[in-house]
Amino acid sequence: MLSTLPRLIGHRGAKESAPENTLASIREAARQGARWVEVDVMLTRDQQPVLIHDDTLDRTTTGTGPVPLLDLAELQGLDAGRWFDAAFVGERVPTLEEAMALIQELGLGLNLEIKPYPGQEEITAEVTLDRLRPLWPSNLPLLLSSFEVPCLEVAQRLWPEIPRGYLLWEPPADWAAIADRIGATTLNVDHGRQTAESVAEYRATGRPVLAYTVNDAARARTLFGWGVSAVFTDAPGRMARELGAAL
Ligand code: G3P
Ligand code: MG
Repeated sequence: MLSTLPRLIGHRGAKESAPENTLASIREAARQGARWVEVDVMLTRDQQPVLIHDDTLDRTTTGTGPVPLLDLAELQGLDAGRWFDAAFVGERVPTLEEAMALIQELGLGLNLEIKPYPGQEEITAEVTLDRLRPLWPSNLPLLLSSFEVPCLEVAQRLWPEIPRGYLLWEPPADWAAIADRIGATTLNVDHGRQTAESVAEYRATGRPVLAYTVNDAARARTLFGWGVSAVFTDAPGRMARELGAAL
């Protein structure tokens, strides 16, 4: 499954060129040559999984306030492209189903980041996996990830055979024990906090290390040199060109 992990994973699609977490952004990542994309999933008030990063609608849509205060139908009335560029007016917040259909059509690998609204960790993971499971074909790579350990515990319980990425920002002192307990396959870490030593320490657990979010080719080269397996990037096409043979 992870044998197809590429060096570059399109972050929220291709966030540098298109409004993040929209169908346009996923299409753009594929157009730029990305083989995998990462997107974030959260629940609406009526418990529909949708692609959005922030807890609130304000930054990336024409709506305001917390995501879980709106039903899907209300959310679908919002524009999720206008904030980015007039060329993307009409983009919507995609449902998980819409995004999965497009990702399959494009033949992309997927890192689905479970991004619960605070307090909704378990239900977000449960509903997301229930929906995803019948939709996802076994021939396409899938990595589930989360910063929230309860989400990874749900994934371990409901769909153990799918690899799990443990996302770390400020790692807790017992991150290695947690990674063991939840059966983490990969460690997905903040690139800015890394040194040769920290990457070595993560790799010593036997897990591939993925680093977010890297938009500078020189930095990516350094991270790969330290043994990082893949980076999440907002600009998969530009980074591939700049890295050239290093990929
Ligand atoms: O999954 C990698 C990266 O997306 C984690 O951070 O805040 O961009 O979702 P964030
Ligand atoms: Mg993310």
